[in-house]
Amino acid sequence: MTTNILITGGTGFLGRELISHLIKNKKNNIIAFGRTESKLSELPRHPQIKPVCGDIRDYEALYFACKENNVDKIIHAAAMKRIDTCQDFPIEACKTNIDGTINCIKVCKEFGTSLFFISTDKACEPCTTYGATKYLAEQLVRRESQSHDFLGCIIRYGNVLNSTGSVLNIWVKQYKETRKVKVRDKSMTRFFWYVEDSVTFIENCLDKIIIEKGQVFIPKIKALNIYEMACYLYREENVEVTTCSHTEKIHESLNGDYCSKDHVVHPRQLLRNKTAT
Ligand SMILES: NC(=O)c1ccc[n+]([C@@H]2O[C@H](COP(=O)([O-])OP(=O)(O)OC[C@H]3O[C@@H](n4cnc5c(N)ncnc54)[C@H](OP(=O)(O)O)[C@@H]3O)[C@@H](O)[C@H]2O)c1
Repeated sequence: MTTNILITGGTGFLGRELISHLIKNKKNNIIAFGRTESKLSELPRHPQIKPVCGDIRDYEALYFACKENNVDKIIHAAAMKRIDTCQDFPIEACKTNIDGTINCIKVCKEFGTSLFFISTDKACEPCTTYGATKYLAEQLVRRESQSHDFLGCIIRYGNVLNSTGSVLNIWVKQYKETRKVKVRDKSMTRFFWYVEDSVTFIENCLDKIIIEKGQVFIPKIKALNIYEMACYLYREENVEVTTCSHTEKIHESLNGDYCSKDHVVHPRQLLRNKTAT
């Protein structure tokens, strides 16, 4: 039996990787939902990929995309995710990250579709507008899934290396322009992992029989020291230490207030559970 999977943000960094990974399974049909025509047209032409133009702020667009394509699962990856943009345009951030998630929840309630919400460590004890909108969106998915007839879960993780806006790309630009890279604080750490690991993790979550509605899946990933990373990549004398802004924490956390240790899973653990079921 085929599975129709709609990916919001299907044209983004994660979305594109997910698509190329998920079509390896011939039983998956992907509905790549995105709002930028040019990006949609750049997606590979493939019988298992259907690009659909629409904005997650627009309930009707999501409704018809799900109805016309008999969508079984939604991976909700579309977001405004740049810290500065969200700080400067909080209403826009709320419209995309909160209203957009509410629209996903509404279609899931309407059609009984399963919802996989892609979240971030920045949603734990948030100190930014971005983190706060993702926190609220997580709560909406959890609560609404628990009290209505659809399966909703949260997949929360840290920084994906080389993704849009990743520190590695920022350093490349800084080094090209000034022969220096900037680090906020010598003790600052961040969770990093590879995009290949994130798509495998998400795929395993998709196939897992969700026992608990509103479950949070958190991979076991290591926090790395940013200063040490920069020194390793660019040599110590080229690393400039600046000051931390109020929108940055020294250490991020992946476990929020409502997450027990049971929620933290390793990708391989999911794989084992999958084989067992
Ligand atoms: N990258 C990371 O390190 C990281 C870490 C943890 C969690 N996450 C989460 O992972 C998800 C994907 O991140 P990413 O790195 O793939 O980001 P990305 O490359 O910026 O992609 C975001 C996607 O969302 C789409 N989008 C934004 N607003 C939209 C709207 N109103 N309607 C429809 N589509 C919209 C964008 O389309 P347009 O380009 O057309 O606007 C783009 O395709 C996000 O939810 C993010 O919070 C990312």
